[in-house]
Amino acid sequence: MTEKLFRLKRTDMCGEIKEAQVGSSITVNGWVQDSRNLGGLIFVRLRDRSGFIQIVFDETVNKELFNIAEGFRSEDVIAVSGTLRMRTEGNFNPDMKTGTVEIVAEDVQVLSKSETPPFEIIDDKEVSDAIKLKYRYLDLRKPSVQKSFIIRHKAAQIARNYFSDNGFLEIETPMLTKSTPEGARDYLVPSRVHGGKFYALPQSPQLYKQILMVAGMDKYFQIARCFRDEDLRADRQPEFTQIDLEMSFVQEEDVMTINEGFLRKAFKEILNYDVPEKFDRIPYCEAMERWGSDKPDRRFKMELCDLSDIVKDCEFKVFTDAVANGGSVRAINVEDGASKLSRKEIDKLVDFVKTYKAKGMAWITVEEEGVKSSIAKFLTEEQLAAIITKTQAKPGDIIMIVADKNKIVFDSLGALRCHLAKKLDLIDENEYNFLWVTEFPLFEYDEEEERYVAVHHPFTSPMDEDIHLLETEPGKVRAKAYDIVLNGYELGGGSIRIHNSDLQSRMFKALGFSEERAWNQFGFLLEAFKYGTPPHGGMAYGLDRLVMLLCKKDSIRDVIAFPKVQNASELMTNAPSEVDSKQLKELSIDICIEETKEEE
Ligand code: AMO
Repeated sequence: MTEKLFRLKRTDMCGEIKEAQVGSSITVNGWVQDSRNLGGLIFVRLRDRSGFIQIVFDETVNKELFNIAEGFRSEDVIAVSGTLRMRTEGNFNPDMKTGTVEIVAEDVQVLSKSETPPFEIIDDKEVSDAIKLKYRYLDLRKPSVQKSFIIRHKAAQIARNYFSDNGFLEIETPMLTKSTPEGARDYLVPSRVHGGKFYALPQSPQLYKQILMVAGMDKYFQIARCFRDEDLRADRQPEFTQIDLEMSFVQEEDVMTINEGFLRKAFKEILNYDVPEKFDRIPYCEAMERWGSDKPDRRFKMELCDLSDIVKDCEFKVFTDAVANGGSVRAINVEDGASKLSRKEIDKLVDFVKTYKAKGMAWITVEEEGVKSSIAKFLTEEQLAAIITKTQAKPGDIIMIVADKNKIVFDSLGALRCHLAKKLDLIDENEYNFLWVTEFPLFEYDEEEERYVAVHHPFTSPMDEDIHLLETEPGKVRAKAYDIVLNGYELGGGSIRIHNSDLQSRMFKALGFSEERAWNQFGFLLEAFKYGTPPHGGMAYGLDRLVMLLCKKDSIRDVIAFPKVQNASELMTNAPSEVDSKQLKELSIDICIEETKEEE
């Protein structure tokens, strides 16, 4: 009789076997982690998603099975039946959840053999990204990597339950949609039926979710795939997932409160971490002034100090020019910096701030008997004393100063404080520090396009008290927008939307859109808004970022099953790839790479 291809179906998951089962028959299925032949006895560690179990093959009990086990190689897939027994006490393994028991094999089936894998399936083994991602399915077998995906699953599940328990409907919106080129570049999909026309993959479900509010759905959520053709970073992928939501008849506080509840539940259930009832709300301006960032990491202090008033009339031209040109002179105080940073390291910090376009960085080392600084000669005793008082520096500290346009000062000092906190080990990695950043500017000036562009998107409502500035001083208008920030990351963001057609027209005008262009691009939304629009607002989280932080990882790549690399390709499938000329013809597409290269 031919043997069944898969005979021994599991009764238990490897990592879940308990001492209470000792004496019973157990069948397990999984991958061979390793096997040790101690002459007459072979010990195999078998792995599945739940963990490991040890299996013993005893030559004196069953010679035939022993011979089969001698042929096991790491990553072979096997099925084993046997009786569970206690290990002898000296052989307990405290590193294994099932470390006090083992299965004595009585039957075995080799389900499939493995070639020698390109790397061992062991946590923390250093493997290059190129190899890891080419063989992602092997990397995904590692217990620590699987743990991240279990957390990802839990986070998505909690979101689904929480929002539906709070009256939100889960509704899917299209993946093939219309290109609306405000924001990042779109990924385009050619239409076969409409030759020469393209769908765009959604950058977010923004417009559809607003239309769902017009449609009376009241509260919507979706775990939505989004696509943005933008430069990759550790917290950015071209394809990512949002927990996206929208609510009708709400103001900012309603959106923030419901989301505080979600985060509290997710962190409690996944990490048993208690998140406060209410998070601080900090206006954008204050966040920039204090931390030089709209996503400040508040797990450490080192706040920025404005020294402009103190140095505006000093002898140092770099400082006086910065202030005279509308910029500022700001500093951070690095406590005990003198003993922690060498001269060489400080030089490196100067190079660091230059990557943020700062022209340089001045520093003052505070000592018991005065200060040491190359700029001290340009400053009076009073000015130096005022700087020390303002920065609250004490002997042993180093005051680091950047003078420039405000944006450069904020960007460089904001990044420098985070860089130093990591370098000097000032961060409590077990803390989760949440805050809302509110009152973002509605517009920012785009030097290239020579016009104002929406910081968030053109449907974000201005704050009521700033509406009168829309035409006269657009740069000063604040938005009803909020970002949720966690440990220096923008975890999510949203806003209250414009639900009034007149205000929307004024917004488009301020953005330099003609009526015609606005209707061309967003006509379907503007048309919908004619038929009774509830006040509405919402937000979206980056699910990948949320899971990355829950898993204490540095990159969202670690929590995406099949991520893309820096040049937006996927190493396992080699996407993107060329396609058949027949496919192209059907799509009315001609490829002309040569010309594009020449143009470049
Ligand atoms: P926004 O563009 O701020 O807002 O995106 C919301 C959140 O999505 C995540 N995110 C990303 N994650 C990974 N890779 C990317 N390339 C990427 N881009 C964004 C971030 C971000 O905070 N429709 C609005 C939301 C709204 O107003 O309701 C939107 O998409 O965590």
